[in-house]
Amino acid sequence: MIVIKSERELEAMRLAGAIAGNVLDDVATWVAPGVTTREIEQYAAGRIKHYGAKSAFLGYRKYPCHICVSVNEQVVHGMADSRRVQYGDIVSLDVGVVYREFIGDTARTVAVGGCDLHAQKLLDVTEQALYQGIAQALPGNRVSDISRAVQAEVEHHQFSVVREFVGHGVGRSMHEEPQIPNYDDGKLSPRLRPGMTLAIEPMVNAGRPEVRILSDGWTVVTQDGSWSAHFEHTVLVTENEPEILTWPEKMPSKLRAK
Ligand code: MF3
Ligand code: CO
Ligand code: CO
Repeated sequence: MIVIKSERELEAMRLAGAIAGNVLDDVATWVAPGVTTREIEQYAAGRIKHYGAKSAFLGYRKYPCHICVSVNEQVVHGMADSRRVQYGDIVSLDVGVVYREFIGDTARTVAVGGCDLHAQKLLDVTEQALYQGIAQALPGNRVSDISRAVQAEVEHHQFSVVREFVGHGVGRSMHEEPQIPNYDDGKLSPRLRPGMTLAIEPMVNAGRPEVRILSDGWTVVTQDGSWSAHFEHTVLVTENEPEILTWPEKMPSKLRAK
């Protein structure tokens, strides 16, 4: 069953989304050559607290961190440790917060200082694929319209879409129905309706699509060692254009204070 959010629930979703977007923005700006992923995690924990929210990830299926930090060939669910990110690395940051019982989920991959042109193209194409997917989040469309738009953008640029992890509905729970694959799986998928809130999140590998999970039980890496990028927004389906709930500039001034 896909939850349709009431206007009251959407007010909380908008706040949670804005906070998640701002935390992600703060962390993305803060990342610099030489910082450890643990320092990124600690900085993020401080920003989540600053906005009066809680991490949606910490303790989720025993996940031990406030945000996911995934470097280079790490696709998603990377965990903070003593690794120092270097100039030229790419770092995927995934932020989920709970605020007034609702969740905002958003991710972005950033270059540390700068990166080579091929890596930059991977970031640009993945972000573009996210916006192509969001553009299909229209009433009457199906989930598969989002999937196909993402996949087309990615494959047009000779990159590949990860199959094993997908986008999802989001609300009181982090992972609600429907699942939102980033490729056409050939199944008949649900129709989109106003009031659905969706986390659309292409995970894109520069090389082959296959991934594996490290022995830590969480970190997802590409099998061929190629680099990977991840962009995500929480989006509301409306009667008209989709509304991106995790846009950082949407933070109300009372939450922005300080
Ligand atoms: N935020 C991730 C997603 O986009 C899920 C993180 S799972 C966790 O769906 F365990 F790492 F929190
Ligand atoms: Co996420
Ligand atoms: Co998500």
